[in-house]
Amino acid sequence: MSNIIESLEWRYACKEFDASKKIEEKTFQKLMDGLILSASSYGAQPWEFVIVENKDLREQMVPLSYNQAQVKDASHLIVMCRPNTIDEKFIDGYIQNVCDVRSQEPQELEGFKKMLMYIVKKSDEDKANWAKNQVYIALGNLLTICADMKIDSCPMEGFVPSKVDELLGLEKLGLKSVLLCPVGYRADSDKYANLKKVRHPSSKIIKVIS
Ligand SMILES: Cc1cc2nc3c(=O)[nH]c(=O)nc-3n(C[C@H](O)[C@H](O)[C@H](O)COP(=O)(O)O)c2cc1C
Repeated sequence: MSNIIESLEWRYACKEFDASKKIEEKTFQKLMDGLILSASSYGAQPWEFVIVENKDLREQMVPLSYNQAQVKDASHLIVMCRPNTIDEKFIDGYIQNVCDVRSQEPQELEGFKKMLMYIVKKSDEDKANWAKNQVYIALGNLLTICADMKIDSCPMEGFVPSKVDELLGLEKLGLKSVLLCPVGYRADSDKYANLKKVRHPSSKIIKVIS
């Protein structure tokens, strides 16, 4: 088993990627395999991940990301999205997925569907927040997988989602961007790579109620 603590110490929010270093496609696929295994509320996976390969678009995303060059320099750019609409059709799609994978009939999952319909009945704002929370779980998972695979990453909410959505035509895909995660390999010149990690001591943030 890999030493996960060592890997988590090694990772950092990469500020400067080496634009000449590319993640091999097979390795990237493995990363995506791990990403889709992320946990989510009810297993509903209210997310899609858009990989932006187009160089021009990635250049154009820099000013929309407060001039953070990671979006253009990293090997791959993952735009982590939530669905624009969470309705009965969305739930039915998930139920069908369960049926396909577990050889079940939709009638067997009627109780489960009823539970999932609570999400549909939420206000638009609450649905958006619920979906966003799930995307953040996927981000956490992605960062850990990257660390384990010795791939650098930078979690990013420093961008203007509405502008990025417009640029990438996400509306047509029924999506709204939540987070960006450029992944690749750090540049030797990135001063942030060797900074000591700043974390609260466990005595401050881990409480035991016995
Ligand atoms: C949700 C989220 C959004 C973040 N957004 C940005 C960002 O836009 N740009 C950036 O350089 N770092 C961003 N960070 C990185 C944090 O600043 C970084 O994780 C934190 O300072 C801890 O440092 P470390 O990850 O290097 O250990 C973000 C982190 C998270 C979890």
